Amino acid sequence: MTLSTLLSPCSVGPHTLTHRVVLAPMTRTRADAATLAPTEQTVLYYAQRASLGGLLISEATHISPEATPSWTIYQNVRDDGGHVPGIWTDTQVARWRAVCDAVHDKGAVISCQLLHAGRVAQPGIGLHPIVVGTNAPLPPVSSSATALCADTEAGDYNWDQAAVLPRALTSEDIVRLIDDYRHAARNACRAGFDFVELHAAHGYLIEQFLCDGINQRTDRYGGSVLNRCRLLFDVVAALVDECGAKRVGVRLSPTGVDPATGRYYQTYFGATTSDPEAIYDCAVAGLNDFPLAYLMLTEPRVGALSVAPEVDPSNRQPLRNGRFRSLFKGCLIGAGGFIPKTAEQAIADGYYDLIAFGRWFLANPDLPDRLRDGSPLNVYDRATFYGCGAAGYIDYPDRHHTRLPSRYAVIDQAQVGVSLRVVD
Ligand SMILES: Cc1cc2nc3c(=O)[nH]c(=O)nc-3n(C[C@H](O)[C@H](O)[C@H](O)COP(=O)(O)O)c2cc1C
Repeated sequence: MTLSTLLSPCSVGPHTLTHRVVLAPMTRTRADAATLAPTEQTVLYYAQRASLGGLLISEATHISPEATPSWTIYQNVRDDGGHVPGIWTDTQVARWRAVCDAVHDKGAVISCQLLHAGRVAQPGIGLHPIVVGTNAPLPPVSSSATALCADTEAGDYNWDQAAVLPRALTSEDIVRLIDDYRHAARNACRAGFDFVELHAAHGYLIEQFLCDGINQRTDRYGGSVLNRCRLLFDVVAALVDECGAKRVGVRLSPTGVDPATGRYYQTYFGATTSDPEAIYDCAVAGLNDFPLAYLMLTEPRVGALSVAPEVDPSNRQPLRNGRFRSLFKGCLIGAGGFIPKTAEQAIADGYYDLIAFGRWFLANPDLPDRLRDGSPLNVYDRATFYGCGAAGYIDYPDRHHTRLPSRYAVIDQAQVGVSLRVVD
């Protein structure tokens, strides 16, 4: 299997990458409990995955207390004391700077994924010591007071709490919200991030405005397709203003209806809309008006991330975001269910410019090198995706140590997505 296209150079904003293998944003819930800032382990985690001329995207990083679904959302994380990082305090900025420095030292660039979770959040953050007494607005908020049904809509996130009815953001709140995004973007630039990425996917706040299953507003942020895209465009405009041209990326997760079954594919946290084609076409086409560094699209084929790699059917499903290639004029990153072979094909066929790998990059810190020399891959351990300290975080061996005793199985690249034939 040759991966020459995947491993060829590509420009993103002002940077020339030496390959097209991107670290997908992945929440790892290992931030420091007291400060909600990255730790020494976080620095090592990103440094391990940095390669000369590579692009990393950070885990979702919260722009404000109101944006924060941690730290009580995931049952397993709560028990382990894991946390999601923020980027609204000076301490958080300082710790992110250590991450950026370590990544730059290895010749890579890094984007900070900015998240506001909207109604996928719990007011518990108000009890956190760094929030108590600050009068910070608290979650949950959304486009409308539309409740998330935790039983049916929280997916495989172990979200075991009753959802709290969100408060609909007022027009004054939206002005302040955009300022919160600005503040976070300014902090990301201070920390040394090369890009910021607006998380506008996966059922979080921006998508809660896009989708009319949630957004029932009657003002200029609700109703028509253009109105529902307005918050997305307003926030992108603010980020570009803060960070400059070609330093902002956006992530979207277009949904749709499967003609074979009539059912939605890819909905997160109950974010459904009656007009999936119209809303995502409008969003993607409208993003051409901004000097973006990139647009990342999630392929709607990754169901339960808990599925074990040997039976994961996602990589055998077709790509569904093809129509956006002609709609979007800039650099397009694809994510979701890619294995080396299909990533190469997707770039060679012109679907995408770069491919973001999630689970395989999580488990293979030197993934680009392994793809280059054909080394077998460590198999990811689902049980340690979230909040288990060093295990499953910084203990995946690089390819020179793969054959030393390790708790991780390895698999031949050609067997990925075919079977879990473990290499002896
Ligand atoms: C542990 C884990 C955490 C994730 N957290 C985020 C996140 O913070 N932000 C985001 O946009 N996507 C997140 N994702 C989705 C990934 O970016 C990616 O789309 C997904 O893993 C599918 O790609 P893959 O098949 O290469 O793993 C996460 C995925 C995993 C496995």
